[in-house]
Amino acid sequence: MTLEEFRDRIHEHDQLTAREVSSIIDDASLEAVRAKVWSRSIQQSFSKLLGELAPDERKDAGRIFNEFKSRVEELFEHTNAQLSAGKAVSAQNLDLTMPARMRWIGGKHPVTIVVDEIVAIFRELGFTVALGPESETEWYNFIALNFPPDHPAMDLHDTLYLGDNAVLRTHTSPVQVRTLQRHPPPIRILAPGKCFRRDPFDASHAPAFEQIEGLAVDEGISFVDLKATVTTFAQKFFGTTRTRFRPSFFPFTEPSAEMDVECQLCSGSGCSACKGTGWMEILGSGMVHPAVLEAAGIDSERYTGWAFGMGPARIAMLRYGLPDIRLLYDSDVRFLAQVAE
Ligand code: PHE
Repeated sequence: MTLEEFRDRIHEHDQLTAREVSSIIDDASLEAVRAKVWSRSIQQSFSKLLGELAPDERKDAGRIFNEFKSRVEELFEHTNAQLSAGKAVSAQNLDLTMPARMRWIGGKHPVTIVVDEIVAIFRELGFTVALGPESETEWYNFIALNFPPDHPAMDLHDTLYLGDNAVLRTHTSPVQVRTLQRHPPPIRILAPGKCFRRDPFDASHAPAFEQIEGLAVDEGISFVDLKATVTTFAQKFFGTTRTRFRPSFFPFTEPSAEMDVECQLCSGSGCSACKGTGWMEILGSGMVHPAVLEAAGIDSERYTGWAFGMGPARIAMLRYGLPDIRLLYDSDVRFLAQVAE
């Protein structure tokens, strides 16, 4: 070991010490840094190096080492004093230009708000929530719901197949069948959940979307009950509003009808959102087809029922005046912050 080499070692350790000390933020990190750069064994290894120097170089080296030693000790003392005074320790740790950390407060997504409200209204009317799986067999999703075997909805273009017989449910209607199989009437359930279709992701379609299914089955249930229930719902949800029923078709209901509410954006006078009609479709419905009751093992001579299905994203668009369904699924906080609760 030459004096030059010794000086280099000290210089290296000096730099390391400065770097480490600048990371100290509290007592614990001070002790950790001290153990790392100024332990007894480190100090001893320097004394050992001194012993390896030629006798005529030891005096200079000793002086260099002692100066270094007091510098390091002073640095630790100073840092310690700063810590106990509660001051920021080193300028490196303190950047006054740094923006304060933003606190995000979570909120309910608009579709969740709508689903919760709809569920609350139907709970008041005596309905309970039922859930079903998002992956279904073809039997629950189609066959038991009276779809003919060659129905176009079963086509690969509309349905996402997971295997030969397994699909991602294309609607919440299979929950009707599962509920009918498990519980004897009277039945009044609401089944919210996610559905999937091979639709393009455009202004009015999303490949994964929410639906809410309603089902009521008992002796003597008629279309009048259906109409009264969904009309009451529309009045509670939208406030006093005009509704209308249009005949429609679903394989699992007969007769079938769609319900429109007065367009919430133009109050019925006609705008681009309602394509000038003044009406917006909010649900499909009908009397449960006897074939569906029979497939689930319910006596269709004794019991009748009705069902509906609605899309809460559509309803959220209607309520918040949204021109594009993708706004609801883009997760853009600037948008969500305006409508989340
Ligand atoms: N399942 C239908 C759909 O996906 C909606 C519906 C449900 C219609 C229940 C009638 C009865 O469009």
